[in-house]
Amino acid sequence: MDLHAALEEIEENIKTLQFPNSPKELYEPITYILSLGGKRVRPLSVLMGCYLFSQKYLKAMPAAIAVEVFHNFTLVHDDIMDNAPIRRGKPTVHEKWNKSTAVLSGDVMQSYSYRLLDNLPNEIVLPILRFLNIISIGVCEGQQLDMNFENKKEVSVNQYLKMIELKTSVLLGASLKIGAMVAQAPEDDIERLYKFGKNMGIAFQIRDDILDVFGDEKKVGKRTGGDIVSNKKTILLLYAYELANSAQKKELDYLTNHSHSIPNEEKITRMKEVYRELNVQQKAEQLIQNYYSEALQQIHAICSTCYEKETIINFFSKLIGREY
Ligand code: IPE
Ligand code: IPE
Ligand code: MG
Ligand code: MG
Ligand code: MG
Repeated sequence: MDLHAALEEIEENIKTLQFPNSPKELYEPITYILSLGGKRVRPLSVLMGCYLFSQKYLKAMPAAIAVEVFHNFTLVHDDIMDNAPIRRGKPTVHEKWNKSTAVLSGDVMQSYSYRLLDNLPNEIVLPILRFLNIISIGVCEGQQLDMNFENKKEVSVNQYLKMIELKTSVLLGASLKIGAMVAQAPEDDIERLYKFGKNMGIAFQIRDDILDVFGDEKKVGKRTGGDIVSNKKTILLLYAYELANSAQKKELDYLTNHSHSIPNEEKITRMKEVYRELNVQQKAEQLIQNYYSEALQQIHAICSTCYEKETIINFFSKLIGREY
């Protein structure tokens, strides 16, 4: 499968999406956020999931676009919740307009994402719509847990893994699964592909946590250290607590205590210092590897007649190992 060509098709389809002109505050942010690009991981996953069982992947394009619009809705709302000033290297929607606009624009994007599914063949619209709706509930649950954890002192690695499974990995798995549903693949293959995507999704979110701290702001397109500023219970912080000596624990407690008003830059620098001392990134890299290997087992068990499993494997391997 030619992923470059598929990506171009996706961009073309996104460009041709039509939204009403008015009220412009409702619709302009949609065109804005969608035009800023992004990796397009989810629409590519839909097309790859379809290609695996049917070489005619273009029939899954409406679902691919729907899922990308859905993802962008979650980003617009996530940036309000996380107080994020930049996304994809540009001001976030709530910064450029305001919070109310971002809330409502996000809402209408979600509705549009469901509506876009209508462009699929009739017999698969309802099952895919039902499935995406279940996923949407999961994402909301994950996002609420993520917010709850900001104010919770003790979060276990298992609680963290459940949270990222919901906020991030179910939609990644769902994208592959939806593609396979369009191709009307066998039920057990669809489920294996979903599990593959969920494991890759967990690895993907751990990579995202690492890049939030150690990534290059220009390449990642998001403000570095945002998770540290908001006291997010990322895997790095959980591992830091696990490995810290008593002096380091005191420092972590101090830095994550809401009642001190440490300037953001200082908080980030000091937290990074503890992370470096304890080498938490390496431990997180190991966890990524574990989920990556788990995912591979799932995809190896999928039908032997599938087209080019390597395309999917290589794609996720690069994505999970990325430095941007
Ligand atoms: C960001 O997703 C939100 C997460 C689940 C980590 P992406 O990293 O896929 O963002 P874009 O779409 O490429 O900008
Ligand atoms: C976002 O997780 C997950 C969703 C958007 C549902 P993050 O908050 O870590 O994503 P980024 O880092 O802002 O992209
Ligand atoms: Mg965020
Ligand atoms: Mg968030
Ligand atoms: Mg993040």
